[in-house]
Amino acid sequence: MALFVGLMCGLTPACVQPEIASPAKRSINEETKGSVRQERGRRADEAKPWEELRLPPAITPEFYNLTVQPDLTGSDTFQGWASILINVSEPIEYPRIHIKNINVTLSKIIDDTGSELVEVNPAFYYEYNEFYVMDVGTLQPGMYTWEIEYTGGLAGKIAGFYKSSYTVPGETEPRYLATTDFEPTDARQAFPCFDEPNIKTFFKIKLRHESKYIGLSNMIEEDRIDIGDGMVETVFGDPEVKMSTYLVCFIVCDFGSVEGKTKSNVTFRVFAPEHKIEEAYYALKVGINITEYFEEYFGLPYSLKKLDMIAIPDFSAGAMENWGLITYREQYLLIDNVTSSASYKQLVCVVVSHELAHQWFGNIVTMDWWDDLWLNEGFASYVEYLGADQAEPTWQMQEQFVVNDLYSVFRLDQIVSSHPIIIDVNRPEEISEVFDSISYSKGASVIRMLNDFMGEESFKEGLQRYLKKYEFGNAKSADLWEQLQSAYDDIVKGNLDIADIMDTWTKQMGFPVVNVEKDMNDLVLNQDWFLVDPNANRSAAPFESPYDYKWEIPFSSKFQMQLDDPPNYQWMERTDTDVVVTGDNSDWYIANYEEKGYYRVNYDIANWEALSLQLNTDHTMIPITDRSGLLDDAFNLAQAEQLDYVKVLDMTVYMDKEMEYIPWDAAYSNFMWLSDILRYQPAFADWRVYLQSKTKTLLNKYNDWSAEVSHLENFLRTDIIYLSCSSGDPDCLNEALTQFYKFLNNETVSANVLSPVLRFGMELDGGQDNWDALWERYVNSDTSAEKSRISFGLARTRHVWLLSRYIEYAMDESKIRRGDFFSVLSYISGNPVGNPLIWDYIRANWEYLVDRFGLSRSLGSLTYTTTQYYSTELKLQQMEEFFEKYPEAGAGPDHASRHWNA
Ligand code: BES
Ligand code: ZN
Repeated sequence: MALFVGLMCGLTPACVQPEIASPAKRSINEETKGSVRQERGRRADEAKPWEELRLPPAITPEFYNLTVQPDLTGSDTFQGWASILINVSEPIEYPRIHIKNINVTLSKIIDDTGSELVEVNPAFYYEYNEFYVMDVGTLQPGMYTWEIEYTGGLAGKIAGFYKSSYTVPGETEPRYLATTDFEPTDARQAFPCFDEPNIKTFFKIKLRHESKYIGLSNMIEEDRIDIGDGMVETVFGDPEVKMSTYLVCFIVCDFGSVEGKTKSNVTFRVFAPEHKIEEAYYALKVGINITEYFEEYFGLPYSLKKLDMIAIPDFSAGAMENWGLITYREQYLLIDNVTSSASYKQLVCVVVSHELAHQWFGNIVTMDWWDDLWLNEGFASYVEYLGADQAEPTWQMQEQFVVNDLYSVFRLDQIVSSHPIIIDVNRPEEISEVFDSISYSKGASVIRMLNDFMGEESFKEGLQRYLKKYEFGNAKSADLWEQLQSAYDDIVKGNLDIADIMDTWTKQMGFPVVNVEKDMNDLVLNQDWFLVDPNANRSAAPFESPYDYKWEIPFSSKFQMQLDDPPNYQWMERTDTDVVVTGDNSDWYIANYEEKGYYRVNYDIANWEALSLQLNTDHTMIPITDRSGLLDDAFNLAQAEQLDYVKVLDMTVYMDKEMEYIPWDAAYSNFMWLSDILRYQPAFADWRVYLQSKTKTLLNKYNDWSAEVSHLENFLRTDIIYLSCSSGDPDCLNEALTQFYKFLNNETVSANVLSPVLRFGMELDGGQDNWDALWERYVNSDTSAEKSRISFGLARTRHVWLLSRYIEYAMDESKIRRGDFFSVLSYISGNPVGNPLIWDYIRANWEYLVDRFGLSRSLGSLTYTTTQYYSTELKLQQMEEFFEKYPEAGAGPDHASRHWNA
């Protein structure tokens, strides 16, 4: 490809640039101008291999020596010294290495006799591909050392190597730390490197810093050498594993830690600011427990001698699985027993479980390229439930899967603008875009389905074979299918083609609805691509399906008279029509048992009616995940005009008897959706009364909002409060207001109800005095979880000028942390009064936003969050104009919302 571009290029200016795939890349194209200038003097007809995005396979790093010295007190810069042993396997010109935002002050390549190669032309930076390119003539095969010295800045960013700060109560001066955050392509901002996931090498790291700090990295601290002037050098142990650049991590900080050991003798530590160290014990406990569980589950011991987890005050993602040194946003790691809620406790458990899963799936075996990112993230998003379930067996984690991941991703995947799990990605901003709900939640859902139809034993065995076979290497989706297939063939000896099945779920977007008709005692099945918009233009889909929107479906069902038996399984192949399942003359049947399949089901009307009747007489006959599945399917089928709303509402009549969180949470999102739709209709009055009547029993049951209830009841109570209050229930609103004033008076309000209390409190009485008082609480709170709830409350005032001022505060880093900017803006956009403000703000400030935050997934998903409910012609026009002007502004919805309960 590079050769092709080189040959075709004459002297036209357009040829200096690499081929641009689509107009969407316009603004990036502009940025290459600088590098064009630097290339002058080169022959115009010469091949330009640096224009190729991927690094040449002829150069592989064998060993990486890196010393870094951040200056946290003076200049906010850092210096680095890299010495990389490279293996050149065939003659190659223009050796190149990734860098971004760093200045190279010295770069030389030394051959194995110790002589430095002579530069034919000065080295240059090719900005478009983020390459530092040398010209030493033709590099002949052999071993070389590439030595690079460089400097970079720590301030004003939250990726690469950057500075963060925190304050200790009672102190006036902030404390500083320097940390890294690399995935997917930011390691190159901290050190020159071969920054692609399948280029794995050994890293030997040293950190130089003031002696008041400690240094942390992937390996354990081996030595701390006094180097004079109050400085020390922390030397980390010899690398125990080869790793991808995006997993490297180093930190200089003054944190304290708590420590334990796993049964297999891994040292486990949790780091946090000293004054919060008590809050680290929960993560330590579940961390050790889950690590031991995964060692057994994956059949492979954890790879390193130690495993650290650390809370970073300014953090862009939720958490990052750096090998042996996992970094977290504070509220995803620390649990303060007073201010923390059940939902944050669960988040900590689940996020820890997720990042620990990556220590195997992702770190030991890494995807070959980012187009298979879903292997990392989808897989971790599935097994995080197994780990969390093991640590907290009473939390119904396995059942929670359906409401946290399955239904939420269905919502995105049932519109024509979705995308397949596996898509081609190349440029850094395209890579960032695939960290979305499709990779995470759909990825997790199809793996869960696979686990179910393969059976526990062969699934686990297949995973273990895969990890063993590709240990410390890279693999693709097809490699996983192959290992699962071999285990399945050996153990189950069935007749399934796993790759063939899974390709239909990963290589085309969307999912099917199975339409079931009862014919005497049998069921007759047909599948159809499920689209929620009845008028969707199927041919407008941006991705073509290689399977014509048909899937290989593991259909399961249970008849009422066989409830105690295991479900029947019936494969529906993509070419099959009128598939028959033999049944009996039960009153009703359910399909997609326990919601293990990634599909919806539409029953014959008689069955929907019989199911409603059953729910009304004794709903406990139907398992809880199936109750939630019936509700979610029914609502979405109705929206798609495939089921009558009367039937749907019949299904909800029993809700006043429903006492379980999972079905309620499924109903919750659908009730809220319907409320939004009905908001401007005369029927809204009746609908509100109906909702109040359905929630009344539970609202009364939980009338004491400060009462201690079980983990899941906390979630249930929050759902009920949101539903009752937003449908105008006077008792609920009164109680919310009472609690709101209590909180403003510094009396205790349970953290479990604080979000709805602040929301409805601010909506009812959110004038300037109360806003300012709440802001004071925000400023003075030292707990990230509480701060985040308060920042949500602040966004719910109905006074527009307060919201405008809040946006200004969010831009001021002395008031609101850089890492919290996007959540504040998206909270405001969720407020009907604030939404137009944010939409105007995004449009007016897009260039500033890109400049400040880069084309990050957080920025992209803000556009999504803000515009997701727009439904008028005018809004469409505005959006078209905006995307015309900034084609790169689109990114998927951020998957992080999938864990948000309260
Ligand atoms: N590998 C990701 C971190 C990441 C996310 C890097 C996006 C680059 C872009 C990590 O394992 C992860 O998935 N983190 C989640 C936490 C989630 C499980 C709550 C995140 O950051 O959102
Ligand atoms: Zn992850």
